[in-house]
Amino acid sequence: MEWTQDLSVGVDTIDSQHKELFSRINSLVAAIRDHTCKYKIGDIVRFLDEYIMFHFAEEEKYMLQHNYPGYAGHKAHHNAFIANFSELKQELPKLEGGQKPGSYDLSVETNQVVVDWILDHIAKVDREFGKYLATCEKRE
Ligand SMILES: [Fe+2]
Repeated sequence: MEWTQDLSVGVDTIDSQHKELFSRINSLVAAIRDHTCKYKIGDIVRFLDEYIMFHFAEEEKYMLQHNYPGYAGHKAHHNAFIANFSELKQELPKLEGGQKPGSYDLSVETNQVVVDWILDHIAKVDREFGKYLATCEKRE
């Protein structure tokens, strides 16, 4: 999965957080490929959970600062993802802080949920906000 310029929202902080998410997903894909995912999936899910919450909060802060009219809809999109992701997180206690291996299924599912959602969300919802910001900046 590669971050390309056409996914740019036009805000460096947001773009670099998106790139970080891509790189984590790529390490998950690599772990699935080399069969080490069982041992890494717990840490990956934990990281994604924290990082995605942080990232959403940053985006939402940015939207409020710029009086973005699409704020509510965008936030609802974020919340839908959080609800989806929390289902994956329910598997975590079973991994007992990295003591027990996770499963291949959990790895593949995490990959699917995050990849499908993220690509669609960045390409449509985040970029919509990016376009709005660009028009604001022109007016300033
Ligand atoms: Fe977003």
